[in-house]
Amino acid sequence: MEHTLPRRKFLLSSTAILLPALLISGSFADAQQQPKFENPVAMPPLDAGIVVGGVRVFELKLQNGTTEFFSGLQTRTSGINGSYLGPMLRMRTGEKIRLNVSNALNETSTLHWHGMNLPAKADGGPHQPIEPGSTWAPEFEVRDAASTMWFHSHQIHKTAAQVWAGLAGLIMIEDDLSDRLDLPSRYGIDDIPLVLQDRRFKRDGSMHYDISMHDEMAGMLGDFPLINGTIRPYFKVTTEKLRIRFLNGANASIYNLEFEDGRSFVQIASDGGFLEAAVQMRKLKLAPGERAEIIVDFAPDESVILRSVASNRRSGMGMMMGAQNPQFDMIEFRAGGALEASATTPQNLANLPAVSTTDATRTRKFVLEMPGMGPMRMLGLGGGFTINGRAMEMSRIDETVKMGEPEIWEIQNNGPMIHPFHIHNTQFRILDRNGKPPASSEKGLKDTVVVDPGETVRILVKFEHYSDAERPYMYHCHILEHEDAGMMGQFTVS
Ligand code: C2O
Ligand code: CU
Ligand code: CU
Repeated sequence: MEHTLPRRKFLLSSTAILLPALLISGSFADAQQQPKFENPVAMPPLDAGIVVGGVRVFELKLQNGTTEFFSGLQTRTSGINGSYLGPMLRMRTGEKIRLNVSNALNETSTLHWHGMNLPAKADGGPHQPIEPGSTWAPEFEVRDAASTMWFHSHQIHKTAAQVWAGLAGLIMIEDDLSDRLDLPSRYGIDDIPLVLQDRRFKRDGSMHYDISMHDEMAGMLGDFPLINGTIRPYFKVTTEKLRIRFLNGANASIYNLEFEDGRSFVQIASDGGFLEAAVQMRKLKLAPGERAEIIVDFAPDESVILRSVASNRRSGMGMMMGAQNPQFDMIEFRAGGALEASATTPQNLANLPAVSTTDATRTRKFVLEMPGMGPMRMLGLGGGFTINGRAMEMSRIDETVKMGEPEIWEIQNNGPMIHPFHIHNTQFRILDRNGKPPASSEKGLKDTVVVDPGETVRILVKFEHYSDAERPYMYHCHILEHEDAGMMGQFTVS
C-alpha cells in the first residue's frame, strides 16, 4: 500500500529527472575519487557446501554488519555469511541441493536463485518470505547447464533497498561440458567473478538507501563503482588468459564495458551458460541481472583499466537514458612479469537447440510503461510503473503457462528508459529486436534481456522442468526501483 505513489510525486519526478545524479553527493565524491586502484579486489569465498545423504547442502545466513569500503570509514551493510554480498556457491548439473537460509536481519527478506530452473516454492521470490529469526530450506535438483547464476533478495517493495545494502551473491554451476572444455578454471587465479555495482556514499561513509523522486524514476545510481564490494580495485594477473564471470549486480546502472586500450576479448557465455561459439568483441553491454563470461589476454608487466563508458544519447529525455550508462573506471588489471601459459580458447562451445518458432503455441505481449510520459501523464492522469497497464499485485496471477509448450513473448518498451526484462524459472532465446536478429553474443541462453526505448523484443520461452498450479513465478524489469514500484507480473506453470 505504501507503495502506491501519489500522482503528484510522478509529476514532480518527470522534471526532477533532468538533474544529473552526480550533484547529489558532490565534493565527497570528488575528493574520494582522486586515489586510484589501491585495493586488491575481494574474491567471494568459494562455497561448495557439504554433501549429506546425496544432497549438497549450503548454509546461508542473511546478516547485518559493517564494511570498510573507504579506509577508516565504517559503512553499515548487509550480506550473506559476511558483511557485504555473499559467497560463490558451487554446484553441478543433476545434483540435488538444499539451501538453508537463515535470517539474522531485523526485517523480512527472501533469497531468489536468479536464472535457475526450479520449483515455484523454491524460487525465493516475494511468496517465500523469511521472517527474522527463521530459516527457509528449499530443496531441488539443478537442471541448468554450466553457467554463472546469482542470488539476491526479492522482498516485495524492498528488493532495491536490500540489494543496495548488500544482499546478493553468486552461483557457479558446472557440468560435463565445462569439465571437458579447456577453459581457465582455477577460482580466484584465472577464473574470477566480478560483481559490478555502484553506490552513493555520504561523508561519514554511510550508504543509506535514501531514495529521491528522481531515483525512483531513473533507478538508484551510484557515484562509486564497487567491484565484488571493493572500491578502487585492482586484480593481479598471473596467467596469459583470464576468464572473467561478470554479473551486473547494480540496482539500475547499465554498464558499457571496454578496456581502455580497446583490446578485444572473447565472450564464451551469456546468462544461462556457454554460447555455441566464442564471440570476439571490444565492447560488452550489461544491464542489471545480466551475466557474461569473457576470456581476455594479457602481456607481461602491462596494466589496463576496464571502464564503463557513458552512452552518447544525451539530449532531451535522452538525458535520463544517459544517466543509465555511467562513466566509470571500474578496475585495473596488473599483469606480472612472467605469466603462466594458458590453453587456446576453444572456438566451439555448446550445442544449443535450434531456435525455431514453428512449435510455438501462442504469443503473449508485454508492454512496459513508466510514469512521466505523454500528455495524459503530464496532466497527472497516467499510471505508474506497469506491465500491460497493471502494477504488480501479490494476489493476482497475470499469466498461466503450460509446462513444456514453447511460446513467443513479445516485450514492448514504450518509454524513454531501457528496461532489462527478466523471467524466473527459464532460460530463453532472443528471436529478434524490432524484427532484426540479435547479435551473436545474444544468441545463447538468456534470462534477462535489454529492451531499448521504442523497441520490441521477441523471445522464445519454454518452462520445461517444474510446474505448480498455485504458486507463481515473476517476470519484471530488473531495474530494482522499477520492479519495486510495480513493473512486475506473476505467472504460473502447470
Ligand atoms: Cu534477479 Cu526476479 O530477479
Ligand atoms: Cu530471477
Ligand atoms: Cu525498468
